[in-house]
Amino acid sequence: MAKESDVITMKIQNIRFPEYLKNETLRRWVSETAALVEPRDVYFCDGSDEEYRRLCDEMVAAGTLKRLNEAKRPGSFLALSDPSDVARVEDRTYVCTRNHEDAGPNNNWMDPVEMKKTLNPLLRGCMRGRTMYVIPFSMGPIGSPISQVGVEISDSPYVVVNMRIMTRMGRKVLDVLGDRADFVHCLHTVGAPLEPGNKDVAWPCNKELKYITHFPEDKTIISYGSGYGGNALLGKKCFALRIASFMGRQEGWLAEHMLILGAESPKGEKTYVAAAFPSACGKTNFAMLIPPKTMNGWKITTIGDDIAWIKPGKDGRLYAINPEAGYFGVAPGTSLRTNENAIKTISKNTIFTNVALTEDGDVWWEGLSDRPPTRLTDWQGNPWTPEIGKETGKKAAHPNARFTAPAGQCPSIDPNWENPEGVPISAFIFGGRRGTTVPLVVEPRDWESGVYWAATIGSETTAAAAGAVGQVRRDPFAMLPFCGYHMGDYFQHWLNMGTGLPRPPRIFGVNWFRKGPDGKFMWPGYGENMRVLEWIIGRVQGIAHGRETEIGIVPRYSDLNWSGMDMSELQFEAVSKIDREEWSQELRLQSELIEKLNSRIPKRFHEIHKSLTSRFESKSASSKAGSASSLML
Ligand code: GTP
Ligand code: SPV
Ligand code: MN
Repeated sequence: MAKESDVITMKIQNIRFPEYLKNETLRRWVSETAALVEPRDVYFCDGSDEEYRRLCDEMVAAGTLKRLNEAKRPGSFLALSDPSDVARVEDRTYVCTRNHEDAGPNNNWMDPVEMKKTLNPLLRGCMRGRTMYVIPFSMGPIGSPISQVGVEISDSPYVVVNMRIMTRMGRKVLDVLGDRADFVHCLHTVGAPLEPGNKDVAWPCNKELKYITHFPEDKTIISYGSGYGGNALLGKKCFALRIASFMGRQEGWLAEHMLILGAESPKGEKTYVAAAFPSACGKTNFAMLIPPKTMNGWKITTIGDDIAWIKPGKDGRLYAINPEAGYFGVAPGTSLRTNENAIKTISKNTIFTNVALTEDGDVWWEGLSDRPPTRLTDWQGNPWTPEIGKETGKKAAHPNARFTAPAGQCPSIDPNWENPEGVPISAFIFGGRRGTTVPLVVEPRDWESGVYWAATIGSETTAAAAGAVGQVRRDPFAMLPFCGYHMGDYFQHWLNMGTGLPRPPRIFGVNWFRKGPDGKFMWPGYGENMRVLEWIIGRVQGIAHGRETEIGIVPRYSDLNWSGMDMSELQFEAVSKIDREEWSQELRLQSELIEKLNSRIPKRFHEIHKSLTSRFESKSASSKAGSASSLML
């Protein structure tokens, strides 16, 4: 019988490496991985159009993809996932630092050696009967000083074609990697080996067991059991947020869950801002915003909709790139009214996952049109009619259904979106989904109060992660599921980043989601958010005013541009109100967070919390809009 070491040698000899693949570290890792996971064959992705088309054709033949109507949706496909595999699995996600404390209470943790011991038996033979794809990719424009290289090994062709859209992928990445060993090792398997004679399913995954694991000290990711989104497209959350945030802290930069947009004023001045909102809370919408026509010529351009890598430039400003090359956006709620640019972006060459199929081979989801088509196939492949929807409460599209589309197809794409130097950021905006308490917009008084604000935001959970929806939780910087180290250290890193700069960007808080007594959103949102953005940019330029409140500067009714919009002063006060009762509750929730992270919370946070509390307790503090004690600024 062959010893284990013989088996490895045999497998190594079997792999036919392309002659252009010279990187020894990569060759060795591919060989060792193949020996462990025992694939049917190994395929090296070159990133060509031909390869993309061929893999799509193969998946159509296998039933994983359905080709959409070529006249209505050219070059586009639909994938329906297994119902057990529809979103990120936060409770199965681990950060395995050597020291437990370094991962922080914000992450699940296991000792790296223990985790590898746990994973090894699962990985052994996990790709049997499948092709092992080797996917070299760059996060960020190839060759940018801010970019990083990763290689994903995966047994999912769906992952390959999605990575082709979401990253710069293929042979050209190996040229920039050269013989360096510092690429991020990303191992992914759907965890569903095909034994001889077994028939494959359209969406293979492991229904019982999933592990999304990170070893930041080794720049390694191992993902087992899921084929969906952030669980499987490892360049995205696993690398560009969890591993990159860890690297950023060591090297003095930031990896953030942020959109980046450019705003051109009617006078032609361009300002770039970055904004962090939690998953499914409006980043894609804000990044592609179309200002109301009545606002006299503002124009928004899009750099990114989900992730920003941010580094200090030589001039003392912060420069940001979008490390991604595509959008993996939430489909439900996307329409010509809410996001015309997204609708145009996904008009062709798009992979849809878990949306509904129309009778003429196009796609549909809740919110795309006011009235649903009379007959659909739902995201589980069953017949669906509006009547069935009403009777059973079943949605036609899964609430976390998504589209994968090339960023270059976005009509509002910014001319600088692939600029290797990035774009200078003038303001950071932090938002959450809050039905109560948090006003439409506020500017905390300085960098430190702004960092405190971002650190303590709460937000209602959404369908982007498996689990309960609609529960308010603290989601610091919209990074709770994505910070690859102790959240207390992360706060300190943010404090340091700003205090080290001559002119740090200004920080703002926003909330588009406040509800009235009727349960409806009080703020119309979407394009109208331009009014808030105009005020924010005005603050940066020193031309917009507001009143001072306990939590920072808030615009008065007269400080916003209302041209072409019908909102009364009373309505505006309701959406901007800072209620003392609600805020004493809010401050209690904030102290719980501070308590949880206590061992590494910045000292400054205790002082800020204390002074906020005392401001709400003090009699002179006013919470009424436009009241006598408010200050002009
Ligand atoms: P991830 O891709 O999950 O990180 O999220 P995202 O922040 O990019 O999410 P996206 O922009 O796709 O958010 C979609 C959800 O936000 C949908 O439910 C939209 O209806 C809602 N939404 C976006 N903008 C607004 C707004 O201005 N007002 C309101 N009320 N809802 C909004
Ligand atoms: C998110 O959940 O924040 C996403 C989608 O952007 S996923 O890539 O699946 O994490
Ligand atoms: Mn996201």
